[in-house]
Amino acid sequence: PRKIYMSRHGESVFNVEGKIGGDSPLSPRGEMYASRLPDLIRQNLGDQNLTIWTSTMKRTIQTASLLPHPTKKQWKALEELDAGVCDGMTYEEIAEKYPEDYANRDEDKFNYRYRGGESYRDVVLRLEPVIMELERHQNILIIGHQAILRCIYAYFMNYSHEDLPYIKIPLHTVIELTPKAYGCDEKRFKVDI
Ligand code: F6P
Repeated sequence: PRKIYMSRHGESVFNVEGKIGGDSPLSPRGEMYASRLPDLIRQNLGDQNLTIWTSTMKRTIQTASLLPHPTKKQWKALEELDAGVCDGMTYEEIAEKYPEDYANRDEDKFNYRYRGGESYRDVVLRLEPVIMELERHQNILIIGHQAILRCIYAYFMNYSHEDLPYIKIPLHTVIELTPKAYGCDEKRFKVDI
């Protein structure tokens, strides 16, 4: 049966610093994930012909860089949710500088749109062509970002808009989805670093 694989990029420098967005490289732990990923995939997914999709950002490309699979595609549409004026800030800085926005996001996380940026609703729309391609292809591994993978996961697992922005997509874990008549079977493969 057809399967869909997804993983967040390895831990980035911004993840360590608690900053959102940006285009930072991987942290040492993130690099460790990138170096262990080829073995994790061979051991759990076998030698199948995976196609690797990343965003155009350093942290996803770097995470995929040691995978032996020859077919890799970079999608601009897979870039992380654009936090607009808040890009590069910590949540504490946002709460201090834009307290109303911070509260509004808490109130309705799916519809909240960052000033000069995007909402989860915007991201769901921008991902439509990606999801259409996903539906037409076999055995894609997406190395992506937290908000993006929440949207893709929610699509296949039938999560509501309300719950979507809170789905837990942990670092350093490959998620395998096998679509069924209703929803999907799911397996998770984690690297302990
Ligand atoms: O912190 C990592 C990150 O991918 C940010 O770049 C992004 O803004 C955020 O997570 C999305 O998560 P949330 O919608 O919960 O803030």
